[in-house]
Amino acid sequence: MSVTVRVPAKVNVQLAVGAARPDGFHDLANVFLAVGLYDEITVTPADGLRITCDGPDADQVPLDRTNLAARAAEALAARYGRSPDVHVHIAKDIPVAGGMAGGSADGAGALVACDALWGTGASRDELLEICAELGSDVPFSLVGGAALGIGRGERLTPLEVGGTFHWVFAMAGRGLSTPAVFREFDRLGEGTDIPEPVASGELLAALAKGDPDALAAAVSNDLQPAALSLFPELAGTLAAGRAAGALTALVSGSGPTTAFLVRDPEAAAAVAQALMSSGTCRTVRTAAGPVPGATVAGR
Ligand code: C5P
Repeated sequence: MSVTVRVPAKVNVQLAVGAARPDGFHDLANVFLAVGLYDEITVTPADGLRITCDGPDADQVPLDRTNLAARAAEALAARYGRSPDVHVHIAKDIPVAGGMAGGSADGAGALVACDALWGTGASRDELLEICAELGSDVPFSLVGGAALGIGRGERLTPLEVGGTFHWVFAMAGRGLSTPAVFREFDRLGEGTDIPEPVASGELLAALAKGDPDALAAAVSNDLQPAALSLFPELAGTLAAGRAAGALTALVSGSGPTTAFLVRDPEAAAAVAQALMSSGTCRTVRTAAGPVPGATVAGR
């Protein structure tokens, strides 16, 4: 018997970042949108805990206990007094270390898959609590759709979305470490007054209306200057996408994946083509959102 769960990537349409807290984390107003790029997590009973991975970036995925999928299986097993005797296979399509919550997706996916395999009967709230312990973005990978995350980004309020938004994503030649980007944010902000993060009313209204022009005018990412400081070449990718007609261009989360909002699938194809031939990125994908979070796809 095995269970397969499909989990989407995310793009942050707003990422407002406050000052560093005493625990080192930053308070956020983080507006997540789940987009149709997926990892698939398959769990099968085994003698012990084992992680395997395939896909274009598989060689960059840790297969030890630091993998969020391993930590999810261990956390659920510990809570229900059993051993995490499971083989977790990750079919990886979300870029690794890309700012699209690929690791978080695997954590949420392994949790939902093990929960179904073991029949724990855990409530949604219990699963969300485990997700929040695994990482700030993991709860959103479970719920999907669109949501505002406050606190570390783990306290979620679902958001209404009045349409489908079309995106192009440009993957960079190397990854960026999220903690390093937050540290750079702190360094760049030293000596300045950093305001409390708040969600933008214009942005929430644009999502609710499903209006891509209004969303394009309202997106923001406070981590973008830090990501650009550590990875200056991203400016060229953003410029190439804008020149190709994207409604807006921004770094996705802590980067280095860059995200381009477009009006429709035709525009997505044109911007994708232009980005590919610009030579400013490693690969390009198109995806639309919102889409549902971690979902059992087969058993
Ligand atoms: O929660 P998660 O493990 O995904 O966070 C990874 C790192 O990103 C943290 O160790 C911290 O450096 C940074 N972070 C932060 N503030 C947040 C979320 C993440 O500083 N709200």
